Amino acid sequence: MRILITAGPTREAIDPVRFLSNRSSGKMGYALARVAVRRGHVVTLISGPVALRPPPKVSFVAVTTADEMLAAVKRYLSQCDALIMAAAVADWRPRRVSAQKIKKATGYRLLCLEPTPDILKQLRSKKGRRVFIGFAAETERLLTGARRKLAEKGLDLVVANDVSRRDAGFEVDTNRVTLLEAGGGVRVLPLMTKMKVAARILDWLEAPARRGCASGAAGGRVGA
Ligand code: CTP
Repeated sequence: MRILITAGPTREAIDPVRFLSNRSSGKMGYALARVAVRRGHVVTLISGPVALRPPPKVSFVAVTTADEMLAAVKRYLSQCDALIMAAAVADWRPRRVSAQKIKKATGYRLLCLEPTPDILKQLRSKKGRRVFIGFAAETERLLTGARRKLAEKGLDLVVANDVSRRDAGFEVDTNRVTLLEAGGGVRVLPLMTKMKVAARILDWLEAPARRGCASGAAGGRVGA
């Protein structure tokens, strides 16, 4: 399959030296890209700024902001059979970016924020037969939040990720997730390495039903 994967955080500038972002390390998305390539898939990895090297044999696209990530996903979506949005897109950005470094003495009395584009929601109408997989990063009511995202973002699978624990979620090499399918199926996975979580997500994607569904989504040959 041709798989488009996003990873890492986005950064939204406040001024030339400061930004808003989040704790995403990119490890989960990079693990997905690494395992997918090893299994013979054709992978494009769109990544926000992280301290990781792109895995070998991956087409790599570096972005910084949510707008840039949206533009890159739009650009490569038509060539893929499945989209896995593992990126932690920053949800807000300053309404105005200061051209100059804001001086400490001036300070911020108020930082006005506006929402960034929701990439999955914007691309929902272009999904066609492609398989869309999203992540739900939650610190409370994990399954409720994940089910809402599954429906609102038109996903086939959501990876519910409790990011409130130290051994799972942001920055660490392990993760504890639950896979929720649009059809109602639920798979609770134990704590495992992000490479193993990636393998389980790809097992799900490679199931014959999904392969049939995504087959030809990009208007061409599909084969793992
Ligand atoms: N996502 C996206 N565009 C955004 C924010 C998130 O496409 N602007 C994607 C993420 O890559 C992920 C899914 O949507 O696959 C859920 O992201 P998450 O951060 O868990 O949720 P939010 O949509 O930001 O909602 P909330 O802030 O209410 O948790």
